[in-house]
Amino acid sequence: MRSLPDEHGAIITAVRPARFIAERHHLIDGLRNALKPHLSPNARAGQTVPMEHARAAEMSARVAGLFNRVADTYDAVGVPWFAPIAERLVAESVPRTGERALDLGTGRGAALWPLAEAVGPTGRVTALDLAEQMVSATHRDATARGLRTVTLLVADASNPGLPPASYDLAIASLVLFFLPEPGVALRAWWDLLVPGGRLGVSTFGPRDPAWEDLDDVFTRYLPPQLLDARTSGIRGPFATDAGVEALFAAAGFDSARTTHIDLPVHFNDVDQWRRWSMSHGQLSHWLAVPEPDRDAVLALAAERLEAARDPRGGFTLEQRVRFTTGRRPLTG
Ligand SMILES: C[S@@+](CC[C@H](N)C(=O)[O-])C[C@H]1O[C@@H](n2cnc3c(N)ncnc32)[C@H](O)[C@@H]1O
Repeated sequence: MRSLPDEHGAIITAVRPARFIAERHHLIDGLRNALKPHLSPNARAGQTVPMEHARAAEMSARVAGLFNRVADTYDAVGVPWFAPIAERLVAESVPRTGERALDLGTGRGAALWPLAEAVGPTGRVTALDLAEQMVSATHRDATARGLRTVTLLVADASNPGLPPASYDLAIASLVLFFLPEPGVALRAWWDLLVPGGRLGVSTFGPRDPAWEDLDDVFTRYLPPQLLDARTSGIRGPFATDAGVEALFAAAGFDSARTTHIDLPVHFNDVDQWRRWSMSHGQLSHWLAVPEPDRDAVLALAAERLEAARDPRGGFTLEQRVRFTTGRRPLTG
C-alpha cells in the first residue's frame, strides 16, 4: 500500500499495488476454510460456491475497468438514484456520533457523505473502492468538502486488508452483488467489525414491469454474466430478502432484517435515460451492443418508455431497493 501526498494532510489515499489481486486470492483460500462451518446447506448448495481464482480475478478486473470508465460521469446526469438509496441505507444502519465506520465500494461517495456527517467530527470513516478513478474523484470531492475525518483507499472489498475488530459499523451500498464471492466478503467484513458491530447493505429487489421491459432492449446482446447487472442473477441469493439474510447468517451475523423502499425514478426523456444508463454499471449493457445497432436499441427504448409516461411530464419508473442489516454477535 502506498500513500499519495495530500495537500491538506488529513485525507490519505492509499493505493494497493497490482499484485493485491494475487494476495487476495491467497487470503481467500484461508477465508474460505474459515467460512466453511458457517455455510448454510443452501449456501453450500450454490449460494457461495467458491469461484476459481482466475475467474474471480477476471471478474474483479472487469468491474474495476467498468467503474474506472464511468467515474467522471457517475450518477451526474440529474437523476437522483445512488444518493437516495445510500442515504436510506445510512439511516437504516443508525450511525452514532464518534463511531468508526467503513464504506465498502464507496463509488463517488453517495453513502460516504451522510456517514461522515452522522459520525461527526469525533468519528472516522474509511471508504474504499476497487476502481482507482472512483477513489481519486471522491478524494477530490472529500477535500473540496473539507472533510478531515475520512480516509480513502483503493482496495478490494472482498479482502480490504484492514485491521480486524476495528469498526463499529460497515456499510456497502449496491456493492455486494458485484463481488465474486459475496459470502467470503461478508465473512471478511464480520472480521473487521468489533463484537456488536453492525453491517448494512443495499441490494435491488424487483423493478416495475415497464422497467423490466425497457431493460429488455439489451437482453439479446448480453452474455450470461451481464443478464441482470442489478442482482447478479434472479435465481441467486440476491433474488429475495431471505436469500440475502441467509448470506448474512452464513457469515456469522445475527439479527439480520430487511426493509424496502420503492424508489420512483424520473426521466425527462429517452435521451436522459440513455445518458443515465451510460453513467454507471449499465454502461456494460451499451458496450455489449454493436455500434451499428445502438440507434435502433435507443429507438426501441423510446417506444417502451411510453408505458411509463407520467401525466405530470416525462417518464417515471420504479425500483424496489432492499436494505439488509445485521450484527456481529457480542460473543463468538
Ligand atoms: C453501483 S456502485 C455503488 C457505489 C456507491 N456505494 C454508491 O452507492 O453510489 C458499485 C461500486 O462498487 C465498486 N466495487 C465493485 N467491486 C468492488 C470490489 N471488489 N472492491 C471494492 N469496490 C468494488 C465499484 O467500483 C463501484 O464504485
